[in-house]
Amino acid sequence: MNGGRVLKVDFDYLALKLMKTYLNTILILSVLAFISFSGGQGGEPDSKSLKIQSKDSIAVNSWKITIPPTDEPGEPLHISGVVYSPDGKTPLDHTKIYVYHTDAFGYYKNEGDTVKHRLSNTLFTNEQGQYEIRTIRPGPYPKSNIPSHVHFIVFSDRYGKQHFELLFEGDPLISERMKQQSESEKSPYRIRQLLVKKDGILRCHFDIVLRNSGN
Ligand SMILES: [Fe+2]
Repeated sequence: MNGGRVLKVDFDYLALKLMKTYLNTILILSVLAFISFSGGQGGEPDSKSLKIQSKDSIAVNSWKITIPPTDEPGEPLHISGVVYSPDGKTPLDHTKIYVYHTDAFGYYKNEGDTVKHRLSNTLFTNEQGQYEIRTIRPGPYPKSNIPSHVHFIVFSDRYGKQHFELLFEGDPLISERMKQQSESEKSPYRIRQLLVKKDGILRCHFDIVLRNSGN
């Protein structure tokens, strides 16, 4: 009988030992999985994964975009509107637009920048054809009489690539000739009002009606 009792104690000991080993294995695997998920080198994702995240966010939901970094000098400006087909009534959903403009001092990039347009971003209109842009008011080109403007390059599957330049009503640099040209559908110029709300943010409503063919 004594031998049987000793055997039972051994089974209990073995069961405890196995349980400890099992728990230790689970703990080690969890730690390894965490290190792998967080990049393995101090927890920071590398630039490649950041790039992928950025692309994904653009492709999935980007009808609202912000262009400048938070510390960008300049007056805050919000631009919003709807992209329409040439009938002026049918909203165009999921339409890609590349938007770019100068900084508050009229420059597209800083010295040494490799990018062509430092203040730029891409959006896709939502189901209702809407878009919203948070940015700063661009400055006119230095030593030039060209009014400040925002470039919109629309990429439509049906109507091709179309270029528009948003100018702001009341800008003294807008010539009479430009005003006349802006009335033509073929011209890239579109002049729109800038409104200042109580919050001090400049707002501009800019609906984009595409032409029948690209330019
Ligand atoms: Fe320009």
